[in-house]
Amino acid sequence: MDKLITTGGGALKGKLRISGAKNAALPLMISSLLTAEVLTIRNIPHLHDITTTMELLGQLGVKLQVDEKLSIEADASEVSRLVAPYELVRTMRASILVLGPLVARFGHAEVSLPGGCAIGSRPVNLHIKGLEALGAEITIDGGYIKATAGRLQGARIFMDLISVTGTENLMMAATLAQGVTTIENAAREPEVVDLANCLNAMGANVQGAGTDEIVIEGVEKLGGADHWVIPDRIEAGTFLVAAAISGGELELVDVIPRQLESVLEKLREAGAHIETGDNWIYLKAPEGPIKSVNIRTAPYPAFPTDMQAQFVLLNAVAEGTATVVETVFENRFMHVHELRRMGANIELDGNTAVIRGVEKLHSAPVMATDLRASACLVLAGLIAEGETIIDRIYHIDRGYDCIDEKLSQLGANIRRVPGNYLNRKTA
Ligand code: EPU
Repeated sequence: MDKLITTGGGALKGKLRISGAKNAALPLMISSLLTAEVLTIRNIPHLHDITTTMELLGQLGVKLQVDEKLSIEADASEVSRLVAPYELVRTMRASILVLGPLVARFGHAEVSLPGGCAIGSRPVNLHIKGLEALGAEITIDGGYIKATAGRLQGARIFMDLISVTGTENLMMAATLAQGVTTIENAAREPEVVDLANCLNAMGANVQGAGTDEIVIEGVEKLGGADHWVIPDRIEAGTFLVAAAISGGELELVDVIPRQLESVLEKLREAGAHIETGDNWIYLKAPEGPIKSVNIRTAPYPAFPTDMQAQFVLLNAVAEGTATVVETVFENRFMHVHELRRMGANIELDGNTAVIRGVEKLHSAPVMATDLRASACLVLAGLIAEGETIIDRIYHIDRGYDCIDEKLSQLGANIRRVPGNYLNRKTA
């Protein structure tokens, strides 16, 4: 298993292009299951989760062509299997997104129930309840969700909790249902809007994406389309935090600043100078120490849970005391234990972290536990005194496009070594 080795110190400076959004690209690729025509998706990021999705679609019989610029052509004209197996679902929970499209187009789907997860129990009851409302019969058998339906029927669906992939799954299924479906208390994330735009380009009739009520008028069939994935707002936010806490200066291009408003606001509050244009963001770190900022995560447009770990780190080295409240996932503070090993002063009480800023973190061997926790630890290593070894970085490769190369471009001292490297070094 590869590790990352960072040496702290030095401001991160330069210009970076932001990649396509992981959480937009995954549902977009899966939406190819809704049509017998070719769906082309451009600006796909280079990530393990993309490879896993390609493997999943390939197993279902979707023909995929990838070019060197990472555009994918997906042809689901000959789907031969309607099963998403445990081996794939357990490595990537977003696999649940095949459930809606498969049952809508083929009348049957079997998807392994995702197990527990490092950041919380993450049930899929809302996906199941919504599909039942659309007329699917669902049983749980041998660890699999088995859904069967004739043509789905439009319905009014109220989501008890705001769920991003839940909204996406039901929105995709409803495009092929008979009649009108209304999803109330829908997720408003930009990735949901990107999917709705692609579905509409395929011939669907989806209105209201980006608000909490999405109305879908079902059509008989969908066609092909050519779609460009939106930029990754979480990748952008992560690099902005890196520049802010290292005393750096950064220009991001190919980014949509208004999708990052809550994050930019917190960075300004922390003392960073920020300017934005249509598709760029410029950040300059404050001259003195960064200031602590209180954070409360919640669904979009509020502060994203996917940026919580990075802001825990920011607060760990800020001037003052801050409270970070995680309201989306019940167990998303694993990074706190690792940051403490690097000298951070953080108290945890349920879903709240109280962080007293310290002047410096020091290096320690640390372990990545989930995607965003890993990003937080890599950034911590870049500002800590000495050499930090970050283990289990496969988590980071799931969701950050060449993070070590991009950070190196900004002057970071970071290198990737094979898993047995350290044993060899000491042998
Ligand atoms: N929930 C339920 N029942 C459901 C669905 C969700 O109780 O049927 C709960 C979850 O347990 C959680 C809350 O609702 O407490 C919100 O979860 P949501 O369904 O919105 O999360 P998700 O769709 O599984 C997506 C992103 C996550 C991101 C969350 C929240 C994708 C592929 N994943 O997950 O991304 O954290 O929305 O914004 O879009 C990441 O990229 O690191 C990541 C984890």
